[in-house]
Amino acid sequence: MKKRIFSGIQPSGNLHLGNYLGAVKNWVALQKEYDSIFCIVDLHAITVPQNPEELRRNTLELAKTYIASGIDTQSATIFVQSQVSEHAELGWILNTLTKMPELDKMTQFKDKSQEHRENINAGLFDYPVLMAADILLYDTNVVPVGEDQLQHVELARTLARRFNHQFRETFTVPEAFIVKEGMRIMGLDDPAKKMSKSASSELNYIALTDSPEKIREKVRRAVTDSGKSIRYADDKPAIRNLINIYALLDNAKPEDIEQSYKGKGYAEFKNDLAEVIVDFLGNFQAKYNDINDKDVLDILETGRGKGKSLAAKKMEDVREKVGFLQ
Ligand code: TYM
Repeated sequence: MKKRIFSGIQPSGNLHLGNYLGAVKNWVALQKEYDSIFCIVDLHAITVPQNPEELRRNTLELAKTYIASGIDTQSATIFVQSQVSEHAELGWILNTLTKMPELDKMTQFKDKSQEHRENINAGLFDYPVLMAADILLYDTNVVPVGEDQLQHVELARTLARRFNHQFRETFTVPEAFIVKEGMRIMGLDDPAKKMSKSASSELNYIALTDSPEKIREKVRRAVTDSGKSIRYADDKPAIRNLINIYALLDNAKPEDIEQSYKGKGYAEFKNDLAEVIVDFLGNFQAKYNDINDKDVLDILETGRGKGKSLAAKKMEDVREKVGFLQ
């Protein structure tokens, strides 16, 4: 039997190259080898205020993004989290096994509470427990994510072991899957911070929907390091980040990119990088624009059915173990 991967993204607006290179690219690479489930995590998205109409639209658009990125809709399952109510149910049960200090130390919670000072709600705090429920419901072996989600996957591992210890063997203990070059794509305007949807400047990220003109402008204006040479080194964080993006999109090794720009300057490197991104996103956008809403709704309906049947079966076992009347 194939091992299983599970991962998800919040439908909270424009995806950027960081989301693609840190997560979705690896989903596409792993989907043949693994039984694959990709979720659109709308319950997570509402931990920050969402406009209902926009949330609905973003949910459909994210499904299209998965498909246009190369997720195989014949073999992989794509579904919307809120349509499989077992996620919330298992989340509640796992809440009772989670210690407050385990959530208190979460970096994403600290960052998001800084960003949304007027709305530090219990859902935002509890977010990693729901994520653990997402993962554990499906006996997931591997969770491909960016580095910022490692802490959360670690909690899922802890909760799986804790539940198994308390109630007998029930959950598979999952592992995170990370690719070094893509795990933390940094902001183009500030290589000390990760590329982020909520960055204050548009120059921070390249959205998957950006036009060729915008891409060229953003790459041209990307911060560079002192010095003139194209070096892949820890003390050159800006250029290292740009080389990582180049290498991942070009399926090359960062060291080979570095080698091929020996003796050349930033301007030439940046021009070429911009064209690599323009090509990649041009292809992506053409596929995206070809997908119609009706097909996406059908795919999500099939996904809901598959997700629901796996989750319902798991929850029967969980309810029995916990001591609920069946
Ligand atoms: P989200 O929606 O914030 O991000 C989606 C994925 O993109 C990755 N990512 C990055 N990778 C590299 N560089 C970056 N700058 C960058 N920014 C974002 C994230 O690590 C993530 O993999 N909690 C999750 C969603 C979630 C989930 C799950 C994931 C909910 N349940 C179960 C896996 C399994 C999140 O907020 O991702």
